[in-house]
Amino acid sequence: MSKKIGVGYAYVSAQEKKYVNEALDAGRLSQGEFVYKFETQFAKLHGQRFGIACNSGTSALHVGLEALKEKYGWAHGSEVIVPAITFIATSNACLHAGLTPVFVDIDPITYNMNPDLIEAKINQRTVAIMPVHTFGQPCEMDPIVAAAKKHGLAIIEDCAEAHFSTYKGNPVGSFGEISGFSTYVAHTITTGIGGVICTDDSNLAEISRSLIAHGRACTCERCVASDPSRVCKLRMQTAIDKRFMMVRLGYSYRIGELEGALGLGQLENRNKIMTRRKQNAKYLTLRLKKYEDVVQLPYYPAYVDHSFMMYPIVVKNTASFTRKEFTEHLEKNNIESRPMLPLLNQPIYVKLFGNIERDYPAAHWINDNGFYIGCHHGLDEEDLERIIECIEGFIDSIKNASSVKFGTK
Ligand SMILES: Cc1ncc(COP(=O)(O)O)c(C=O)c1O
Repeated sequence: MSKKIGVGYAYVSAQEKKYVNEALDAGRLSQGEFVYKFETQFAKLHGQRFGIACNSGTSALHVGLEALKEKYGWAHGSEVIVPAITFIATSNACLHAGLTPVFVDIDPITYNMNPDLIEAKINQRTVAIMPVHTFGQPCEMDPIVAAAKKHGLAIIEDCAEAHFSTYKGNPVGSFGEISGFSTYVAHTITTGIGGVICTDDSNLAEISRSLIAHGRACTCERCVASDPSRVCKLRMQTAIDKRFMMVRLGYSYRIGELEGALGLGQLENRNKIMTRRKQNAKYLTLRLKKYEDVVQLPYYPAYVDHSFMMYPIVVKNTASFTRKEFTEHLEKNNIESRPMLPLLNQPIYVKLFGNIERDYPAAHWINDNGFYIGCHHGLDEEDLERIIECIEGFIDSIKNASSVKFGTK
């Protein structure tokens, strides 16, 4: 059997192993210097002053929303505009934070929130827009920022799939007040499981750091951890040691030094990782272009830098085969695929929101016809050729069969 070509990949380099071993030898497993270095560098690379590492991308978004809710005093049930195609964690985070996700249909070419449809969703209860940079492709941010400004709304970016992507030269995560990234295993930079909250706002950073650690008052524990001689002067000025004083209803969302060490090593390899992913996606598009009459390949304007966390494909209505037939053929040949982030047809969402999928025609089309395959840095030219050969074999045989049927051969 041929090697499995998965949708995701995680490679642990010698550098990461070295850092993890250093963390183990240092004898501190909870949050410390590695986490601090990782989160700070990660945020800086996304144009932000503050990074707060946490245990998942979902936690990052949840905390980001709760921090905004506290800062602005948003009422329970206030509305947040989210795209109708995304991983379910985006809108779940709104629900977890006591906010209501309001779906907006997507652009059928970029698969991101359609900015032309946002205005119609804004009302008195709307407090924020939550663009998701799906598959690594940045959203069309100019009109989203303009709509937010016009209506006095916050922007919280879901950058879970878009590490290092840029829009008109600016990194994703730098357009909103706060953003959430996932570092789960299949993501571009991984810590195994994990996430990072990024912001330029010291108040939001402070609230976020408190929220991930049970709501504690003292959010500077890491500096004490890395240098025990620097005991915080503020700590004993109150009846309860500030490290154990809880001032808001918080969560236990922290990561430890092993994840921090992994993440730091991954960041050092980021250029290699990014270059390979982009090259792989470019190669696939170049070779599959001849099938654009039946499949839609990724399209992105020249002013965005797409980080290609995965490679999306949509079976067009002109095709005489279905997504199911196509992906079954790929899977039979040991090439993994996943449906393209179905949301509104998820059983739990049908239960919560009803049968609303038909009101979102572009998302509906993607739910029926979209899927993605891997284009990650673990794939070499031989793997890409195998993917291409497999797709050629499938599409050519169907095209040949239908031309015989209709007498064109
Ligand atoms: C768009 C999007 N948002 C949020 C998340 C949640 O991240 P995590 O799985 O780390 O909780 C993911 C995960 O893949 C995602 O793709």
